[in-house]
Amino acid sequence: MIDNISELITNVPELGAGSLGIVDDASVVVENGKVVAIGPAGALADQRLDAGGRCVLPGFVDSHTHLVFAGERAEEFTRRMAGEPYDGGGIRVTTEATRAASRQALRASLHRRLREVHRAGTTTVEIKSGYGLSVESEALITSLAGEVTAETTFLGAHVVPSEYRGRADDYTALVCGPMLESVRPHARWIDVFCETGAFNVDQSRAVLEAGRNAGLGLRLHANQLDHGPGVRLGVEMGCASVDHCTYLSDDDLEMLAASDTVATFLPAADFSTRQPYPDARRAIDAGVQVAIASNCNPGSSYTTSISFCIALAVRDMRMTIDEAIAAVTTGGAAALRRSDVGRLSPGGPAHLAILDAPSRHHLAYRPGVPLIWRTVGADYRLPSTGDRGGG
Ligand code: NIG
Repeated sequence: MIDNISELITNVPELGAGSLGIVDDASVVVENGKVVAIGPAGALADQRLDAGGRCVLPGFVDSHTHLVFAGERAEEFTRRMAGEPYDGGGIRVTTEATRAASRQALRASLHRRLREVHRAGTTTVEIKSGYGLSVESEALITSLAGEVTAETTFLGAHVVPSEYRGRADDYTALVCGPMLESVRPHARWIDVFCETGAFNVDQSRAVLEAGRNAGLGLRLHANQLDHGPGVRLGVEMGCASVDHCTYLSDDDLEMLAASDTVATFLPAADFSTRQPYPDARRAIDAGVQVAIASNCNPGSSYTTSISFCIALAVRDMRMTIDEAIAAVTTGGAAALRRSDVGRLSPGGPAHLAILDAPSRHHLAYRPGVPLIWRTVGADYRLPSTGDRGGG
């Protein structure tokens, strides 16, 4: 039993107040990794964790990360802070480092980042490939991701690698053929970076169609650096989520609102690339289902902190704290087409984050402070702490 909870966010309106289903002065009984009861604080139990008047919420669902890579790009970040624009070209730098790394080194650095993800309060994580860009390397990356999570995404169409420069159609054919074939046993999703400088709308459609024919679910990176046709393509193809959505036209909003495609915002990428933030207020008011994810990667967003993303969403995207919390729990779950995670209810998994604070408001009110006191449970396989890794 976790007792003496000041504010319990269930995300189940039938269990508590408002759309977040908030129960004040609560306790949660957990057995064999499942929630078995939610009740008032102070009941008796054999094994009792005293939350000490802290706030408890469902573990975060981080629906967009790129956790398998080697090297880092701090110098690129520093140049950007000095005024250089972000164009995604650095993906090839990370690809070179990742291709040169051994399986053991990639696995060790993935495990290190996954422990960071857990400390950040995230209990469900999606992991993309996309820094291999060859048949062999993409297969290795998706298999490493598949060792730790069921939410693995094949992103062979991240950018055109250097050896295919000027031959984007040939590379697209490789992605849709032998590369897809080699990752198929490890991947649940397929994704494409549909943007000027990456893949055009026809190439993106071809990749999504090939993925769908292979039985994969569809997701898309789009409208990160400018307006474009990506959102329309994502909705037309029935993608579970279109990610970034920094630039959304009225038509994009109308299409998203009429669809079951989630718009996933990645505010830490906009922070780290000096892009404008998406107008989340306009999207929510138009009826779009939104999610927020970390986009942890070494180029555009080297953070696993969902708390940081919440603070940006509230401060700079005009979301309320309750909307931001929904976006990183039920929103992330919807972006992965999951209804079992992102909420706390009897019979569901006991995946939760305990804040070192009395209420959810502190997530935005105390930016930059590590507020996750404990993370309980996870949907992924958390490696032992003996494996320190590097990179
Ligand atoms: O989601 N936009 C494309 N992919 C990543 C960036 C990867 C990188 O710069 O290494 C993203 O932001």
